[in-house]
Amino acid sequence: TPLTIAIDGPSGSGKSSVSRAVARELGLAYLDTGAMYRALAWHCLEQGLDLDDGEAVTQAARDLPLDVPTDPDGQSVTVGGTDVTGAIREQRVTEQVSAVATNLDVRAELRRRQREVIGAQREERGGIVAEGRDITTVVAPDAEHRVLLTASEEARLARRSTELHGGADADQVAATRDQIVRRDEQDSTVSAFMEAADGVVTLDTSDLTFDEVVAAVLALVRG
Ligand code: CDP
Repeated sequence: TPLTIAIDGPSGSGKSSVSRAVARELGLAYLDTGAMYRALAWHCLEQGLDLDDGEAVTQAARDLPLDVPTDPDGQSVTVGGTDVTGAIREQRVTEQVSAVATNLDVRAELRRRQREVIGAQREERGGIVAEGRDITTVVAPDAEHRVLLTASEEARLARRSTELHGGADADQVAATRDQIVRRDEQDSTVSAFMEAADGVVTLDTSDLTFDEVVAAVLALVRG
């Protein structure tokens, strides 16, 4: 029977790498929904759109020729054939992504696409690990397994700094803290991704290694 594993969590909770590893281990597809919001933000910046112009951004979301990989060993994210895999991780996109992600019409459009991918991959690959901020609550509340990854602010900062800079000296941690705190604040106006909804299993990853988190999720799934 098809399997959907929904994983939510804030920045630095490790959700992307954990979800990818779980998908690989179980032979399932993988969807990074954050990459979709990032690709839209990249596109809007590229087009010089005013991100506060809700209608223009919504139209851009509806027209976006976006292709996200669903293989956990992932190929590229492309927009209209342009490889944006690296570009969507750049600072300017990270800083602006909440502005497009807090637009409710944009969310409706991207959620529709996400549900389409999930439905298709349940057929094609037997299931999918989908991760983001609202997968357990809105995109796939009926998923067979739903997990919220949490982590202390300290652990999230350390991970994020390492991801971004390959190390975590004091200045970098401070800069990253400001960025994460600001984005969390903006994002939490539309999704309560820091608290588990009913029936969602919370996994505090603060004191766990990457392998331990993956093992814990697999244990949940395998029962
Ligand atoms: O960098 P990080 O892993 O924290 O975030 P991401 O998963 O790449 O998501 C980037 C941004 O997309 C978030 O800050 C949210 O604004 C938005 N997002 C969302 O609103 N809903 C989702 N399901 C996934 C991402």
